[in-house]
Amino acid sequence: MDKFKRYTITAALPYANGPKHIGHLAGAYIPADLYVRYLRLSGKDVVFVCGSDEHGTAIPNQAMKEGTTPQAIIDKYHQLNKESFQKLDISFDIYHRTSEPIHHQTAQDFFKVLDQKKVFTIETSEQYYDADAQTFLADRYIVGTCPKCSFEGAYGDQCEKCGTALSPNELINPKSTLTGNKPILKETKHWYLPMDRYEDWLKEWILKGHQHDWRANVYGQCKSWIDGGLAARAITRDLDWGIDVPAEGAEGKKLYVWFDAPIGYISATKQWAIDQGKDWQLYWKDQDTKLVHFIGKDNIVFHCIIFPIMLHAHGDYILPENVPANEFMNLEGDKMSTSRGWSIEMHEYLEDFPDKVDELRYYLTAIAPETADSEFTWKDYQARVNNELVAILGNFVNRVMVLMHKYFEGKVTGASTGIKDPTLHKEISTAYDELGASFENYKFRQAQQNMMEVARLGNRYLTEQEPWKTFKEDPEATREVLHECLYIIGHLATLMQPFLPGTAQKLFRMLNLKSAYRFDEAFVFEDGHTLQQPELLFQKIEDETIEQQIQKLNAKKASMETSATTPELNPAKAAINYDQFSAMDIRVGTILAAEKVAKTQKLLKLTIDTGLDQRTVVSGIAEHYEPEAIIGQQVSILVNLEPREIKGIMSQGMILMAENAEGKLSFVSPIAAMNNGSTVR
Ligand code: 2FM
Ligand code: ZN
Repeated sequence: MDKFKRYTITAALPYANGPKHIGHLAGAYIPADLYVRYLRLSGKDVVFVCGSDEHGTAIPNQAMKEGTTPQAIIDKYHQLNKESFQKLDISFDIYHRTSEPIHHQTAQDFFKVLDQKKVFTIETSEQYYDADAQTFLADRYIVGTCPKCSFEGAYGDQCEKCGTALSPNELINPKSTLTGNKPILKETKHWYLPMDRYEDWLKEWILKGHQHDWRANVYGQCKSWIDGGLAARAITRDLDWGIDVPAEGAEGKKLYVWFDAPIGYISATKQWAIDQGKDWQLYWKDQDTKLVHFIGKDNIVFHCIIFPIMLHAHGDYILPENVPANEFMNLEGDKMSTSRGWSIEMHEYLEDFPDKVDELRYYLTAIAPETADSEFTWKDYQARVNNELVAILGNFVNRVMVLMHKYFEGKVTGASTGIKDPTLHKEISTAYDELGASFENYKFRQAQQNMMEVARLGNRYLTEQEPWKTFKEDPEATREVLHECLYIIGHLATLMQPFLPGTAQKLFRMLNLKSAYRFDEAFVFEDGHTLQQPELLFQKIEDETIEQQIQKLNAKKASMETSATTPELNPAKAAINYDQFSAMDIRVGTILAAEKVAKTQKLLKLTIDTGLDQRTVVSGIAEHYEPEAIIGQQVSILVNLEPREIKGIMSQGMILMAENAEGKLSFVSPIAAMNNGSTVR
């Protein structure tokens, strides 16, 4: 065990712009939870923080897609993700939100300290601007072709296809996501973190200091960033959504999301400390505290380079001891992607398998992408559950429990305080040591195998001893072997707690022990101890269940592809209030006369009976309707639109038309005939 007195463990704050999938779960949240549970079981003082990342352009972008407000988006997905994590037994001490005032304050204070220390540079440069939307186009407000892989939907901050971090001016054929316009360049002022000034410090701290304890993939990525030379990075944005920049001359500007998000770990710890009556500073500023960030590989630069520069420049904070980032987990032969429909979202799994949480935790740990990308397949999931959890672990426990009930009515007789057989004893104690070493080295796949070794050992011992053969002639020999097995099961339950927390509790219940045991805590089956009735720990997964999931996945992808090939709809407009809506006076009217407007292609001059009057309206529908075909047609007409002169004709109102993505028009008419003048509301 290392020298630290306490531990601050963070898991990447997921953007609250959508549900998270099982690749995210395997990449950051399960390994973090395993490590934290291991530390707690070893009696350590730990805080485990996470929460929603609620800023950045990803949020308003999603709001636009869903035709709602950023606030509604963060509320919806914060709740969904929080609930999924809870159901998956991810044991955060707090699941916070970056929209909380305590976070805004903490991030602004952090900025102010750096500003006062003259850490930032301020530069004016030309940036992309959407003239129609009258806004600068930061990060995800701009899309274009990736200069690295030619993917056409790359964002201004990152290409989601190849993972390259980008800046908007690197995109080929940039387009505004707000209007589809080609952006223009316009001058604006921003605050920059001059990362180049910290290169020497990073070389010492990472390249010399962490060559041997950081994972090769993490170290390698950092080395290539540092060797490639670091540039100043803007940490402010021209945006409406985010945290105000607390500096003079920064009105209307917000902090860059990657500046405020990691500070979210600090504000989450503050809130937790308030709730628990603790001192948050000990968890962030004391050299005896070990800080570890759990993330996926796309977040390495932010956690290993940018955030540490911020912490170091601030001066009061400790640095991460380790950042055990994972590679990606693919799904059935392809990259996992929510937007392409090729994913299993956490809440989707939970809907279909509400009672198979430990099975998922087990499988995702067994195939954790610790050193290389890995692959989730439903068939392999089934095989691991059936051949390992059911056939090895569940089977051993069940055989012992059934035999104890069959021969001894589930009762322990005679005092024994632990395993008697010296070889078995040694093997169990080695399992604890090996599992501990695996955890200390962030090798969670290995740690889970160390636990499973105990189940294998138990099975082997039981099969070799054959206690059912001795019962008639020598029941004491049978009892002895089964007692040994009960102790093995107790240790197995203790060791499985990080990986299979629900199963461990069930097992402790069956053994009639407490619901949890620390690794150094003894459990004893005293004379007269009674066991509960055995229950099956795991159920076999049938082929049919797996086939259904594969079909479901293919269907989801197909439906996404259909919607992706349908021409894009106009983006949703900003929200209006009810008064704005009810200010529009829309009526049912009937077209009495129609004629083409001379020297135009598109315009028809219509005479409409509005019930209130007969009036003239010029409408751009000539390419869609012949004048004579629409006489008598009922329409919806906005009657209180200010009159406007079009081609010398005074047009009084507007006919409402539905227009699909291909530009086809149709009247919006009542489906039953209505009196002219009827209101539309
Ligand atoms: O990649 C993401 O989902 C980011 N929201 C992770 C942020 S981690 C931390 F810095 F908050
Ligand atoms: Zn790319």
